[in-house]
Amino acid sequence: MSRPHELVTAHPHLRGPSVVVPPPGPRSREIAARLGAVECPAFDARRAARAEASGADQAPIAYARAYGDFVEDADGNVFVDMTAGFGACILGHAPEPVCARVKEEIDLLPLSLGDVYASEVKVDAVERIAALFPEPGARVLLGSSGADALTAALKTAVLATGKAGVVAFEGAYHGLSYGPLAICGLAPGFRAPFAAQLGSHARFAPYPAAEPDLDASLSAVRAHLAGGDVGAIVVEPVLGRGGCVVPPPGFLAGLRALATEHGALLVADEVWTGIGRSGAMFASLAECVPDVVCLGKGLGAGFPVSACVGRASVMAAWGEHGGTTIHTGTHFGAPPACAAAVATLDLVSAHGLAGRAVEVGGALRMALRLADLSVGGCGLMLGVDLGTGARALAVARGMLARGYIVLTGGRRGEVLTLTPALTVDRELLTGFTEALADVAATT
Ligand SMILES: Cc1ncc(COP(=O)(O)O)c(C=O)c1O
Repeated sequence: MSRPHELVTAHPHLRGPSVVVPPPGPRSREIAARLGAVECPAFDARRAARAEASGADQAPIAYARAYGDFVEDADGNVFVDMTAGFGACILGHAPEPVCARVKEEIDLLPLSLGDVYASEVKVDAVERIAALFPEPGARVLLGSSGADALTAALKTAVLATGKAGVVAFEGAYHGLSYGPLAICGLAPGFRAPFAAQLGSHARFAPYPAAEPDLDASLSAVRAHLAGGDVGAIVVEPVLGRGGCVVPPPGFLAGLRALATEHGALLVADEVWTGIGRSGAMFASLAECVPDVVCLGKGLGAGFPVSACVGRASVMAAWGEHGGTTIHTGTHFGAPPACAAAVATLDLVSAHGLAGRAVEVGGALRMALRLADLSVGGCGLMLGVDLGTGARALAVARGMLARGYIVLTGGRRGEVLTLTPALTVDRELLTGFTEALADVAATT
């Protein structure tokens, strides 16, 4: 499938990779120093720890502008963005048709009155999101972040089942506000400092990475459900931040059966996998129909909008609660965010971008394998296993010096997670693969 040129036209100036100053250059360093003096010290502390672990400088570049697959930093370096803004910019940076719709709404009505007085564009967005659910009558709660969508799903489960327990998975990530943080299995370090404020309702089961792990995982879930107090099983259909791990066939269907048997909801966290990135609008539908699906990231193609969409019978619990608004937010359903979602969903479907993710991602995976790299994942969410977190950080840094932005992920940070735009220019992927093979061979 060729590139949807109507979506991404060449930028008159931005074309990369083009490294004119070893990154980070002087302007980036200056900006980082100013930020380090006022921002929460956690970020500088993390960079220092990573520099020590990897033996590679981790000083950041400063983004100046971006378009399509390219990011220009404050020193005039142009990078190929293999992260697409944590996977959110599924149409590349600053996609013109989406930006145009958002600008229209910014001029007309930056903010309506959320759940009290909505504007029509919110209706358009909610209708489109509900229509993604494979059963008629689905209902939607909007939010701004992925964590908002997970929070809404967790509340839905309590209202619909009356049970507070949640089964989640080791290695999974659902955001860091308190609802999702309590079920974050990626690394104990996220929860540990806040454990006293997180409750004790979360139980963890191993996430199966291959067929032999399947029984142990489903047995652990079954054991957690046996107590009778679990109202939700929350699962990423493919681990994203956990390293692009595709579970073996039968996992999601097995969870579906267990949830139904024990009166719990099956919540699919499709914040990373959804809207085409995994190769489908919802990755979970390959095996089951979840009760609730969480969307974020790609839903707004870089603009902040998320959604919790659930089957009618489950979402009905919100209507039976007693006539008070018990879930809302000032910016939930803001017109520019809704316009972004509408434009994005229309473009993803008009250009068949889920199918393109399968095709282009398959070719990239093959090329990486031919370059002797160990690669997993699906669609355009691929993970290259580099063995250790220290090596992955050093390789990421080596790639930055070559003009490619990549992130590390996985439970030990040992994986390079590749989430380029679904519209990515295939030619850039050839250069990327060559550079990665080269950097990995010498790091
Ligand atoms: C699967 C998954 N769920 C939820 C989230 C949280 O999204 P946000 O960072 O927008 O709150 C993320 C973020 O990476 C994610 O990968």
